[in-house]
Amino acid sequence: MQEKMAMIKEFRQLYGGSPTGLAYAPGRLEILGNHTDYNQGVVLSAAIDRGTFFALSPVGQGGDGVCRIHDLRSGDTVEFRLDQLEHPQAGDWANYVKGVIVELHKRGATVPPFQAAIRSTIPLSAGMSSSAALEMAAALALCKLAGLSLSTLELARIGQSCENNYVGARTGLMDQITSLNGRADHLVFSDFRSLAVTPVPMPSGVALIVANSMVKHVLTGAYNERRIRCEEAVAELARHWPGVQALRDVTRQQLDEYRPQLDATTYRRALHVVGENERVFAGIKALRRQDLEAFGGLLFASHESSRVNFENSCPELDALVELGKSLPGIVGARLSGGGFGGISVHLVRQEQAAEFARRLAAAWQSRTGRALDPIICRAADGGRLLEVAPDA
Ligand code: GLA
Repeated sequence: MQEKMAMIKEFRQLYGGSPTGLAYAPGRLEILGNHTDYNQGVVLSAAIDRGTFFALSPVGQGGDGVCRIHDLRSGDTVEFRLDQLEHPQAGDWANYVKGVIVELHKRGATVPPFQAAIRSTIPLSAGMSSSAALEMAAALALCKLAGLSLSTLELARIGQSCENNYVGARTGLMDQITSLNGRADHLVFSDFRSLAVTPVPMPSGVALIVANSMVKHVLTGAYNERRIRCEEAVAELARHWPGVQALRDVTRQQLDEYRPQLDATTYRRALHVVGENERVFAGIKALRRQDLEAFGGLLFASHESSRVNFENSCPELDALVELGKSLPGIVGARLSGGGFGGISVHLVRQEQAAEFARRLAAAWQSRTGRALDPIICRAADGGRLLEVAPDA
């Protein structure tokens, strides 16, 4: 792996020796199943061939007890002491590492002072989970440093707790689970009630094309509000029907039966989640019978439900989906991830992918006057520790 060698070389130049721990974790795309994870629902997602490396070594006795992380992409270095992690710094990317350390400490681990470097190819704040990739790469490398061996589920939970408790975004487990469980040329089917994760072969002959709306999506405001709405819907439905613990328990018929008890907005929010669960199950069936058209139709329906029911789209994402829909080769398209900005994902016939990307960029340019650089992604393997050959 060329990128791995480049990472090790840069680490050596920076700190004068090889890293003792090196991990890699990819970004992810959400393919179907929007805002279902924290509702104990189901998701089809994919780890992608863009990710984050985290390399580290202990600073040892002679050090000043300060941890350093250097970001090779931006050139920033962040320094902090391990006994001063109580308060996250607003807007600091290192919060995703500090929050992981706090969670490791809660689990009884002792992380010694370290020096680290990161290198990422995932666009930031775009909706491809650059933060989860950083958390998972850091968690893998820090566990190695602390001599701790954790399951992928526990590692994913550490990342989620970092988001929930340290960063303040009440996100679900999907980003971290996907980043760790990705498999080349497969989608990841996750059930967030049983926490079972199953690989599903990518349909052959299609490419995943990602377009960045460049509307920064921040998952602390509207995202948390949507989550509260879902909880309100559950509380109201449970008053009439005690079996309901999460929106996962609710069918469309049941939701319609109780519609008069819900206010109109709460109903639409719940309908989105219930509909997304249905679409994931329908999507898996469509893939099994190799019905690409039906699968693509579910992606469009998902976007429409985001736009109308969950209201987590934005004019730029709507435009990307609409423009993509009119181009040759399109199978389906939707917003991907939390929404409120970020990316759209387009499923496109492989042989038309390059031309599709070119035409989407041209259509976007003439509609908005702005440049667009669509990324053709592959479904890739998940996060892991990497071997580092000893210094020569
Ligand atoms: C973000 C969150 C995930 C999930 C998606 C929406 O990516 O981090 O947990 O809720 O939004 O499906």
